[in-house]
Amino acid sequence: MARGRFITLEGGEGAGKSTQISRLAAALRDRGYAVIETREPGGSPGAELIRNLLVNGPTDRWDGVTEALLHFAARREHVQKTILPALQRGDWVVCDRFADSTLAYQGYGHGVDKDFIKSLYDGTVGGLQPDLTFILDVPVEQGLDRANTRGTGGTRYERMDKAFHTRLRDGFLDIARNNPQRCTVINASDSMDQVAEEILKQIDTRLT
Ligand code: TMP
Repeated sequence: MARGRFITLEGGEGAGKSTQISRLAAALRDRGYAVIETREPGGSPGAELIRNLLVNGPTDRWDGVTEALLHFAARREHVQKTILPALQRGDWVVCDRFADSTLAYQGYGHGVDKDFIKSLYDGTVGGLQPDLTFILDVPVEQGLDRANTRGTGGTRYERMDKAFHTRLRDGFLDIARNNPQRCTVINASDSMDQVAEEILKQIDTRLT
């Protein structure tokens, strides 16, 4: 059976990823594909336990290197227990964040050495790469405003300062420039309908 496709959505806070993940998964199911929706950190029982350590508590709970290690520990579980089995069944995997988030948040945001992050990727994920990555780009203030109106009190990351969020937005744009075959930047300030339409258009031209 043909291996399924692996699609990731990335971006800063309040970029609208969760809405777009469900819309994309629904559109792909309408086309007859088997689709799983998943997320990072998390996406398997063990990885969800690690997620709790990462998103809750004071902003200075972990140093950047520890955070990177925890994200890759969660990712290894997620890849082994959820993503690879789904791809081997022939399912499409639509994932809310993946390793580009570690490079952006821990690398560009917290200043963790980017080669160290790449070596963690090689050692824990190996040869698997997303087939297509959407980077949902939104100005920092607009994103944080949107995230705040969710009224959840904010994860550890939402509570980090504006300079951190600016570094990670620039980081995501840099990642897209460095990986033009895999990544496409979407203007997430547009309406949800426009963003959903653009995502499907890119799937049609780049994947099917
Ligand atoms: P979420 O709010 O998109 O569910 O993600 C939880 C937080 O984890 C989000 O603020 C970004 C952060 N994060 C990292 O810092 N590094 C990573 O590798 C991942 C996957 C997420």
